[in-house]
Amino acid sequence: MIHNRYVRLRSRPCGKIGQDDFELSSMALPSPEQGQLLLKNRLLSIDPGVRNLLGAKEGYLPPIAVGAPVTCSVLGEVIQSRHDAFAEGDLVVGRGMMGEYSVVTPDALCWKVDKASAHTLSNALGVLGNTGRTAYFGLLEVGRPEPGGTVLVSGASGSVGSLVGQIARIKGCRAVGIAGGEQKCRMLRDEFGFDVAIDYLGKSDEELHAAIVAACPDGIDVFFDNVGGRVLDSTLPAMNFGGRVVLCGLISQYDGASPPVMANLFMIVAKALHVRGFLLPQFADRYDEAVAFLEGAIARRELYFREEILDGLEAAIPAFVRQFNASTAGKTMVQLS
Ligand SMILES: NC(=O)c1ccc[n+]([C@@H]2O[C@H](COP(=O)([O-])OP(=O)(O)OC[C@H]3O[C@@H](n4cnc5c(N)ncnc54)[C@H](OP(=O)(O)O)[C@@H]3O)[C@@H](O)[C@H]2O)c1
Repeated sequence: MIHNRYVRLRSRPCGKIGQDDFELSSMALPSPEQGQLLLKNRLLSIDPGVRNLLGAKEGYLPPIAVGAPVTCSVLGEVIQSRHDAFAEGDLVVGRGMMGEYSVVTPDALCWKVDKASAHTLSNALGVLGNTGRTAYFGLLEVGRPEPGGTVLVSGASGSVGSLVGQIARIKGCRAVGIAGGEQKCRMLRDEFGFDVAIDYLGKSDEELHAAIVAACPDGIDVFFDNVGGRVLDSTLPAMNFGGRVVLCGLISQYDGASPPVMANLFMIVAKALHVRGFLLPQFADRYDEAVAFLEGAIARRELYFREEILDGLEAAIPAFVRQFNASTAGKTMVQLS
Protein backbone atom coordinates (compact mmCIF):
# COMPACT_ATOMS: atom_id res chain seq x y z
CA MET A 1 0.00 0.00 0.00
CA ILE A 2 1.42 3.40 -1.01
CA HIS A 3 0.97 6.44 1.21
CA ASN A 4 0.48 9.48 -0.94
CA ARG A 5 1.11 13.03 0.21
CA TYR A 6 -1.12 15.29 -1.80
CA VAL A 7 -2.88 18.67 -1.97
CA ARG A 8 -6.46 18.57 -0.77
CA LEU A 9 -9.23 21.10 -1.35
CA ARG A 10 -9.97 22.35 2.16
CA SER A 11 -12.82 24.72 1.37
CA ARG A 12 -14.61 25.90 -1.74
CA PRO A 13 -13.00 29.24 -2.53
CA CYS A 14 -15.29 32.17 -2.73
CA GLY A 15 -13.79 34.93 -4.87
CA LYS A 16 -10.01 35.15 -4.91
CA ILE A 17 -8.36 31.91 -3.86
CA GLY A 18 -5.96 31.81 -0.94
CA GLN A 19 -3.51 29.26 0.42
CA ASP A 20 -5.99 28.49 3.23
CA ASP A 21 -8.35 26.93 0.68
CA PHE A 22 -5.87 24.04 0.37
CA GLU A 23 -3.85 21.82 2.65
CA LEU A 24 -1.30 19.06 2.40
CA SER A 25 -2.65 15.71 3.48
CA SER A 26 -1.83 12.05 3.09
CA MET A 27 -3.86 9.01 2.17
CA ALA A 28 -3.43 5.35 1.38
CA LEU A 29 -3.62 5.20 -2.40
CA PRO A 30 -6.03 2.64 -3.85
CA SER A 31 -4.48 0.18 -6.32
CA PRO A 32 -5.12 1.02 -9.98
CA GLU A 33 -8.14 -0.70 -11.48
CA GLN A 34 -8.17 -2.48 -14.83
CA GLY A 35 -7.35 0.12 -17.50
CA GLN A 36 -5.53 2.45 -15.07
CA LEU A 37 -1.91 3.35 -14.28
CA LEU A 38 -0.14 4.12 -11.02
CA LEU A 39 2.40 6.90 -11.53
CA LYS A 40 5.17 8.23 -9.34
CA ASN A 41 4.86 11.90 -10.19
CA ARG A 42 8.04 13.67 -11.29
CA LEU A 43 6.54 17.02 -12.38
CA LEU A 44 3.25 18.76 -11.61
CA SER A 45 1.86 21.32 -14.03
CA ILE A 46 0.46 24.44 -12.35
CA ASP A 47 -2.44 25.62 -14.53
CA PRO A 48 -5.05 28.34 -13.98
CA GLY A 49 -7.76 26.19 -15.60
CA VAL A 50 -7.86 24.02 -12.44
CA ARG A 51 -9.49 27.02 -10.71
CA ASN A 52 -12.61 26.20 -12.75
CA LEU A 53 -12.90 22.87 -10.99
CA LEU A 54 -12.92 24.38 -7.49
CA GLY A 55 -16.38 25.94 -7.70
CA ALA A 56 -19.58 23.97 -7.37
CA LYS A 57 -20.58 24.44 -11.02
CA GLU A 58 -20.01 21.91 -13.76
CA GLY A 59 -17.20 23.07 -16.08
CA TYR A 60 -15.11 21.25 -18.66
CA LEU A 61 -14.63 18.57 -15.98
CA PRO A 62 -16.75 17.77 -12.89
CA PRO A 63 -15.97 20.00 -9.87
CA ILE A 64 -13.52 18.77 -7.23
CA ALA A 65 -15.34 17.93 -3.99
CA VAL A 66 -14.34 19.66 -0.78
CA GLY A 67 -11.89 17.31 0.98
CA ALA A 68 -10.91 15.61 -2.28
CA PRO A 69 -7.47 15.71 -3.93
CA VAL A 70 -6.79 18.58 -6.32
CA THR A 71 -6.17 17.22 -9.80
CA CYS A 72 -3.67 18.57 -12.31
CA SER A 73 -1.65 17.57 -15.32
CA VAL A 74 1.36 15.49 -14.24
CA LEU A 75 4.39 13.82 -15.74
CA GLY A 76 5.20 10.59 -13.93
CA GLU A 77 6.82 7.18 -14.19
CA VAL A 78 4.53 4.15 -14.42
CA ILE A 79 5.18 1.96 -11.40
CA GLN A 80 2.16 -0.28 -11.96
CA SER A 81 0.26 -0.70 -15.22
CA ARG A 82 -3.13 -2.31 -15.67
CA HIS A 83 -3.42 -0.99 -19.22
CA ASP A 84 -2.14 -2.93 -22.26
CA ALA A 85 -0.63 0.14 -23.99
CA PHE A 86 1.62 1.14 -21.05
CA ALA A 87 4.40 -0.70 -19.21
CA GLU A 88 6.19 -0.18 -15.93
CA GLY A 89 9.01 2.34 -16.41
CA ASP A 90 7.18 4.31 -19.10
CA LEU A 91 7.10 8.06 -18.62
CA VAL A 92 3.58 9.37 -19.03
CA VAL A 93 1.79 12.73 -19.10
CA GLY A 94 -1.76 12.51 -17.81
CA ARG A 95 -4.43 14.05 -15.66
CA GLY A 96 -3.38 13.03 -12.16
CA MET A 97 -3.23 14.21 -8.60
CA MET A 98 -1.37 17.22 -7.20
CA GLY A 99 0.66 14.84 -5.04
CA GLU A 100 3.56 12.43 -4.97
CA TYR A 101 1.65 9.69 -6.82
CA SER A 102 -1.31 9.56 -9.20
CA VAL A 103 -3.72 6.94 -10.43
CA VAL A 104 -4.40 7.85 -14.04
CA THR A 105 -7.00 6.61 -16.50
CA PRO A 106 -5.51 7.10 -19.97
CA ASP A 107 -7.64 9.44 -22.06
CA ALA A 108 -7.19 12.18 -24.65
CA LEU A 109 -4.97 14.14 -22.25
CA CYS A 110 -2.64 11.18 -21.60
CA TRP A 111 0.35 10.10 -23.67
CA LYS A 112 3.73 8.40 -23.40
CA VAL A 113 6.83 10.59 -23.31
CA ASP A 114 9.56 9.60 -25.75
CA LYS A 115 12.48 8.72 -23.46
CA ALA A 116 14.93 8.91 -26.36
CA SER A 117 14.00 12.53 -27.07
CA ALA A 118 16.66 15.15 -26.44
CA HIS A 119 14.09 17.37 -24.77
CA THR A 120 13.92 17.82 -21.02
CA LEU A 121 11.04 16.39 -19.00
CA SER A 122 9.81 19.92 -18.29
CA ASN A 123 9.62 20.57 -22.05
CA ALA A 124 7.56 17.37 -22.40
CA LEU A 125 5.03 18.69 -19.89
CA GLY A 126 5.14 22.31 -21.10
CA VAL A 127 6.06 23.47 -24.57
CA LEU A 128 5.55 20.00 -26.10
CA GLY A 129 2.67 19.14 -23.77
CA ASN A 130 -0.76 20.66 -23.18
CA THR A 131 0.60 24.21 -23.30
CA GLY A 132 2.27 24.05 -26.70
CA ARG A 133 -0.48 21.89 -28.20
CA THR A 134 -3.15 24.33 -27.01
CA ALA A 135 -1.28 27.25 -28.56
CA TYR A 136 -0.76 25.34 -31.82
CA PHE A 137 -4.32 24.09 -32.41
CA GLY A 138 -6.00 27.13 -30.90
CA LEU A 139 -4.17 29.52 -33.17
CA LEU A 140 -3.76 27.51 -36.36
CA GLU A 141 -6.96 25.45 -36.40
CA VAL A 142 -9.42 27.70 -34.61
CA GLY A 143 -7.88 31.10 -35.44
CA ARG A 144 -6.65 30.21 -38.95
CA PRO A 145 -4.31 33.22 -39.30
CA GLU A 146 -3.11 34.27 -42.75
CA PRO A 147 0.32 35.69 -43.56
CA GLY A 148 0.35 39.47 -43.27
CA GLY A 149 -2.63 39.47 -40.88
CA THR A 150 -2.68 40.88 -37.36
CA VAL A 151 -3.00 38.49 -34.40
CA LEU A 152 -3.78 39.98 -30.99
CA VAL A 153 -3.10 37.79 -27.92
CA SER A 154 -4.30 38.44 -24.37
CA GLY A 155 -2.55 36.86 -21.37
CA ALA A 156 0.41 37.12 -23.72
CA SER A 157 3.14 36.66 -21.11
CA GLY A 158 1.54 33.41 -19.92
CA SER A 159 2.61 29.98 -21.01
CA VAL A 160 0.03 29.58 -23.79
CA GLY A 161 -0.06 33.23 -24.89
CA SER A 162 3.71 33.59 -25.19
CA LEU A 163 3.78 30.64 -27.61
CA VAL A 164 0.77 31.86 -29.59
CA GLY A 165 2.53 35.15 -30.40
CA GLN A 166 5.64 33.32 -31.59
CA ILE A 167 3.67 30.84 -33.72
CA ALA A 168 1.81 33.77 -35.27
CA ARG A 169 5.15 35.34 -36.22
CA ILE A 170 6.42 32.04 -37.65
CA LYS A 171 3.30 32.02 -39.85
CA GLY A 172 4.10 35.51 -41.15
CA CYS A 173 1.64 37.50 -39.04
CA ARG A 174 2.11 40.63 -37.03
CA ALA A 175 1.81 39.67 -33.34
CA VAL A 176 0.46 42.10 -30.75
CA GLY A 177 0.33 41.06 -27.09
CA ILE A 178 -1.55 42.34 -24.03
CA ALA A 179 0.07 41.96 -20.59
CA GLY A 180 0.06 43.63 -17.20
CA GLY A 181 2.93 45.99 -16.43
CA GLU A 182 5.94 47.47 -18.22
CA GLN A 183 8.25 44.61 -17.21
CA LYS A 184 5.98 42.00 -18.79
CA CYS A 185 5.51 44.17 -21.88
CA ARG A 186 9.28 44.39 -22.27
CA MET A 187 9.42 40.62 -21.97
CA LEU A 188 6.82 40.28 -24.74
CA ARG A 189 8.95 42.35 -27.12
CA ASP A 190 12.46 41.29 -26.10
CA GLU A 191 12.02 37.62 -25.19
CA PHE A 192 8.91 36.44 -27.03
CA GLY A 193 9.34 38.61 -30.14
CA PHE A 194 5.92 40.31 -30.22
CA ASP A 195 5.87 43.27 -32.61
CA VAL A 196 4.00 45.44 -30.11
CA ALA A 197 3.01 45.03 -26.44
CA ILE A 198 0.03 46.70 -24.74
CA ASP A 199 0.00 47.24 -20.97
CA TYR A 200 -3.60 46.87 -19.73
CA LEU A 201 -2.90 47.82 -16.12
CA GLY A 202 -4.27 51.15 -14.96
CA LYS A 203 -6.22 51.75 -18.17
CA SER A 204 -9.95 52.41 -18.34
CA ASP A 205 -11.92 50.40 -20.89
CA GLU A 206 -11.80 53.37 -23.29
CA GLU A 207 -8.03 53.76 -22.83
CA LEU A 208 -7.50 50.05 -23.35
CA HIS A 209 -9.56 50.13 -26.54
CA ALA A 210 -7.62 53.18 -27.78
CA ALA A 211 -4.31 51.41 -27.07
CA ILE A 212 -5.49 48.33 -28.99
CA VAL A 213 -6.54 50.45 -31.98
CA ALA A 214 -3.20 52.30 -31.95
CA ALA A 215 -1.26 49.01 -31.81
CA CYS A 216 -3.33 47.44 -34.62
CA PRO A 217 -3.65 50.14 -37.31
CA ASP A 218 -4.90 47.58 -39.88
CA GLY A 219 -7.44 46.12 -37.46
CA ILE A 220 -7.33 42.64 -35.91
CA ASP A 221 -7.82 39.51 -37.99
CA VAL A 222 -7.47 36.97 -35.16
CA PHE A 223 -7.92 37.61 -31.45
CA PHE A 224 -6.58 34.77 -29.27
CA ASP A 225 -8.21 35.40 -25.88
CA ASN A 226 -6.96 33.82 -22.65
CA VAL A 227 -8.56 36.42 -20.40
CA GLY A 228 -12.17 37.38 -21.28
CA GLY A 229 -14.07 40.14 -19.48
CA ARG A 230 -13.17 43.72 -20.22
CA VAL A 231 -10.16 42.76 -22.35
CA LEU A 232 -12.46 40.86 -24.70
CA ASP A 233 -15.06 43.62 -24.64
CA SER A 234 -12.50 46.33 -25.42
CA THR A 235 -11.13 44.31 -28.34
CA LEU A 236 -14.36 43.47 -30.21
CA PRO A 237 -14.79 46.93 -31.84
CA ALA A 238 -11.22 46.76 -33.19
CA MET A 239 -11.80 43.45 -35.02
CA ASN A 240 -11.83 43.37 -38.81
CA PHE A 241 -15.01 42.30 -40.61
CA GLY A 242 -15.23 38.49 -40.62
CA GLY A 243 -12.39 38.24 -38.06
CA ARG A 244 -11.95 35.26 -35.76
CA VAL A 245 -12.06 35.30 -31.96
CA VAL A 246 -10.48 32.23 -30.34
CA LEU A 247 -11.79 31.70 -26.82
CA CYS A 248 -9.02 29.70 -25.18
CA GLY A 249 -9.78 30.68 -21.58
CA LEU A 250 -11.37 33.38 -19.44
CA ILE A 251 -8.84 33.66 -16.63
CA SER A 252 -10.23 37.02 -15.43
CA GLN A 253 -13.44 35.22 -14.45
CA TYR A 254 -12.07 32.08 -12.84
CA ASP A 255 -12.21 33.46 -9.30
CA GLY A 256 -15.96 33.89 -9.57
CA ALA A 257 -15.73 37.62 -10.28
CA SER A 258 -18.97 38.85 -11.81
CA PRO A 259 -18.41 39.31 -15.50
CA PRO A 260 -18.45 42.97 -16.50
CA VAL A 261 -21.33 44.17 -18.62
CA MET A 262 -20.30 43.46 -22.20
CA ALA A 263 -20.96 46.76 -23.93
CA ASN A 264 -19.70 45.66 -27.34
CA LEU A 265 -21.28 42.25 -27.92
CA PHE A 266 -23.22 43.60 -30.89
CA MET A 267 -19.88 43.92 -32.71
CA ILE A 268 -20.02 40.13 -33.16
CA VAL A 269 -23.07 40.71 -35.35
CA ALA A 270 -21.99 43.98 -36.94
CA LYS A 271 -18.58 42.61 -37.96
CA ALA A 272 -19.79 39.06 -38.71
CA LEU A 273 -17.16 37.68 -36.33
CA HIS A 274 -16.47 33.98 -35.90
CA VAL A 275 -16.26 33.37 -32.14
CA ARG A 276 -15.23 29.87 -31.17
CA GLY A 277 -14.20 28.16 -27.96
CA PHE A 278 -12.22 24.94 -28.03
CA LEU A 279 -10.75 22.28 -25.79
CA LEU A 280 -7.40 20.67 -26.51
CA PRO A 281 -8.68 17.04 -26.41
CA GLN A 282 -10.77 17.83 -29.52
CA PHE A 283 -7.49 17.56 -31.43
CA ALA A 284 -6.20 14.39 -29.75
CA ASP A 285 -5.88 12.49 -33.04
CA ARG A 286 -3.49 15.18 -34.37
CA TYR A 287 -1.11 15.63 -31.43
CA ASP A 288 1.86 14.25 -33.42
CA GLU A 289 1.49 17.06 -35.94
CA ALA A 290 1.66 19.70 -33.20
CA VAL A 291 4.67 18.09 -31.52
CA ALA A 292 6.54 17.86 -34.86
CA PHE A 293 5.87 21.56 -35.53
CA LEU A 294 6.89 22.64 -32.02
CA GLU A 295 10.05 20.48 -32.01
CA GLY A 296 11.03 21.89 -35.41
CA ALA A 297 10.51 25.46 -34.27
CA ILE A 298 12.57 24.84 -31.09
CA ALA A 299 15.37 23.26 -33.13
CA ARG A 300 15.43 26.27 -35.48
CA ARG A 301 15.45 28.57 -32.42
CA GLU A 302 12.21 30.17 -33.53
CA LEU A 303 10.40 29.30 -30.30
CA TYR A 304 11.46 30.45 -26.87
CA PHE A 305 9.78 28.97 -23.82
CA ARG A 306 10.05 30.37 -20.33
CA GLU A 307 9.79 27.86 -17.45
CA GLU A 308 9.90 28.20 -13.70
CA ILE A 309 10.45 24.92 -11.88
CA LEU A 310 9.85 24.92 -8.14
CA ASP A 311 11.00 22.19 -5.77
CA GLY A 312 8.89 19.91 -3.61
CA LEU A 313 5.19 19.35 -3.02
CA GLU A 314 5.17 22.16 -0.42
CA ALA A 315 5.65 24.61 -3.31
CA ALA A 316 2.48 23.49 -5.12
CA ILE A 317 -0.11 25.43 -3.08
CA PRO A 318 1.68 28.82 -3.16
CA ALA A 319 2.49 28.31 -6.85
CA PHE A 320 -1.14 27.61 -7.70
CA VAL A 321 -2.43 30.63 -5.76
CA ARG A 322 0.27 32.91 -7.20
CA GLN A 323 -1.00 32.46 -10.76
CA PHE A 324 -3.93 34.70 -9.96
CA ASN A 325 -1.73 37.47 -8.55
CA ALA A 326 -0.11 38.34 -11.88
CA SER A 327 3.30 37.30 -10.57
CA THR A 328 4.00 34.54 -13.06
CA ALA A 329 5.26 34.55 -16.62
CA GLY A 330 5.68 31.46 -18.76
CA LYS A 331 5.04 27.99 -17.42
CA THR A 332 5.18 27.07 -13.73
CA MET A 333 5.86 23.47 -12.68
CA VAL A 334 6.70 21.70 -9.45
CA GLN A 335 9.42 19.07 -9.44
CA LEU A 336 9.24 16.10 -7.06
CA SER A 337 12.24 13.96 -6.19
N1 LIG B 1 -8.99 25.62 -24.15
C1 LIG B 1 -8.06 24.78 -23.73
O1 LIG B 1 -8.01 23.61 -24.08
C2 LIG B 1 -7.03 25.31 -22.77
C3 LIG B 1 -5.88 24.56 -22.45
C4 LIG B 1 -4.93 25.15 -21.59
C5 LIG B 1 -5.15 26.41 -21.05
N2 LIG B 1 -6.31 27.06 -21.35
C6 LIG B 1 -6.58 28.41 -20.84
O2 LIG B 1 -5.64 29.27 -21.43
C7 LIG B 1 -5.46 30.40 -20.60
C8 LIG B 1 -3.97 30.66 -20.40
O3 LIG B 1 -3.40 29.56 -19.72
P1 LIG B 1 -1.87 29.61 -19.33
O4 LIG B 1 -1.48 28.25 -18.92
O5 LIG B 1 -1.10 30.31 -20.37
O6 LIG B 1 -1.94 30.54 -18.04
P2 LIG B 1 -0.79 31.41 -17.36
O7 LIG B 1 0.55 30.92 -17.77
O8 LIG B 1 -1.12 31.47 -15.91
O9 LIG B 1 -1.00 32.84 -18.00
C9 LIG B 1 -2.18 33.52 -17.89
C10 LIG B 1 -1.89 35.00 -18.03
O10 LIG B 1 -3.14 35.70 -17.88
C11 LIG B 1 -2.89 36.98 -17.32
N3 LIG B 1 -3.98 37.31 -16.39
C12 LIG B 1 -4.32 36.72 -15.23
N4 LIG B 1 -5.40 37.30 -14.67
C13 LIG B 1 -5.75 38.30 -15.52
C14 LIG B 1 -6.79 39.29 -15.51
N5 LIG B 1 -7.68 39.34 -14.52
N6 LIG B 1 -6.86 40.15 -16.55
C15 LIG B 1 -5.97 40.10 -17.56
N7 LIG B 1 -4.94 39.19 -17.62
C16 LIG B 1 -4.86 38.31 -16.61
C17 LIG B 1 -1.56 36.90 -16.55
O11 LIG B 1 -0.70 37.89 -17.05
P3 LIG B 1 -0.75 39.44 -16.64
O12 LIG B 1 0.23 39.64 -15.53
O13 LIG B 1 -0.38 40.08 -17.90
O14 LIG B 1 -2.14 39.76 -16.18
C18 LIG B 1 -0.97 35.54 -16.94
O15 LIG B 1 0.33 35.65 -17.49
C19 LIG B 1 -6.21 30.14 -19.30
O16 LIG B 1 -7.43 30.84 -19.35
C20 LIG B 1 -6.41 28.63 -19.35
O17 LIG B 1 -7.53 28.24 -18.62
C21 LIG B 1 -7.24 26.54 -22.20
